[in-house]
Amino acid sequence: MSILFKTVISVLLSLVNVFTVSVFGTVESKDAYKVQNEDEILLNFAAISDVHMTDGFAHAQMLKCGLADMENAQNELDALVLAGDITDHGLVEEYENLQKAFESFSPAKEILMAVGNHDTWTDDNDRYEPAKENFVKYSKEITGRELTQCYYSTEINGYSFIVMASEGTNVAAYISETQLEWLRAEMDKAAEKDLPIFVICHWPVAQSHGLPETFGEEEPSILDGSLGEQTYAVEEILKDYENVFMISGHIHNGLSNAGQSELYGYSSVESDGTFHSINLPSFMYMSSRGSMLSGCGYSIEVYEDEVVVRARSFTSGMWQSDYDVTIPIM
Ligand SMILES: [Fe+2]
Repeated sequence: MSILFKTVISVLLSLVNVFTVSVFGTVESKDAYKVQNEDEILLNFAAISDVHMTDGFAHAQMLKCGLADMENAQNELDALVLAGDITDHGLVEEYENLQKAFESFSPAKEILMAVGNHDTWTDDNDRYEPAKENFVKYSKEITGRELTQCYYSTEINGYSFIVMASEGTNVAAYISETQLEWLRAEMDKAAEKDLPIFVICHWPVAQSHGLPETFGEEEPSILDGSLGEQTYAVEEILKDYENVFMISGHIHNGLSNAGQSELYGYSSVESDGTFHSINLPSFMYMSSRGSMLSGCGYSIEVYEDEVVVRARSFTSGMWQSDYDVTIPIM
């Protein structure tokens, strides 16, 4: 299916929601957005990826549908994670459109933005600095967070969130030695708490989630769709710790569960028992495999002894329970 065709269908589908928000000002959630166990919930956040905000109307309205659903949640979300490709080109007008969408809603107590390859391109192709400047500026405008780098860490309800970033302008990430050292130090610090650690990185590690097969290339190379050359260095660090949840996007894979992994060649949530990898579908675009529904992501509920990863269509206010996974904490 051509990208143009998929984009047209995706936008047409989203118009149903677009008009709901335009006309009525809000969306009526069909499935109540509430946690499974109110008495025992410790952390409750939503994660979406690949919003690809442009300066256009349809993309902004689609995002607003999702933000409205989050704002209407019965248990206020502790955080909303945007796992990269927040904008289509990292341009000021796209960030402005994004900021306007966020000004209308309060989806969560905290918002975490991660940079993706589309955010580092800008119209100044080979220069990272202008893209970084835009990301840092609008990260402050939208989240209130002062950054000096695109990578950073924070703590929410006592849980560590470590947000990685490419420092280059290519499709694959470039993770500098400095960032690798920082990652090691942050993981050491986080591990002292003996709680699940959430690592947000737009790019998944190599050969996860069906990689290197990505967009139908016949002979993909081994690093396609992944972090790129530093993927093994990153993986080596992350796999030294327990209860690590890596949340990525980038490959626009639709939701796929373990039962569908033979059919589609991947699962959206993979786990080796202690390293857990959650790959988010593109919020904005239909996927080429797995569930093709756009507007989806995961709502993540953390309890003392388990993490419940619940798929939700934020634009239609409905759970996608076929893709839920419960992961015990070691
Ligand atoms: Fe993307």
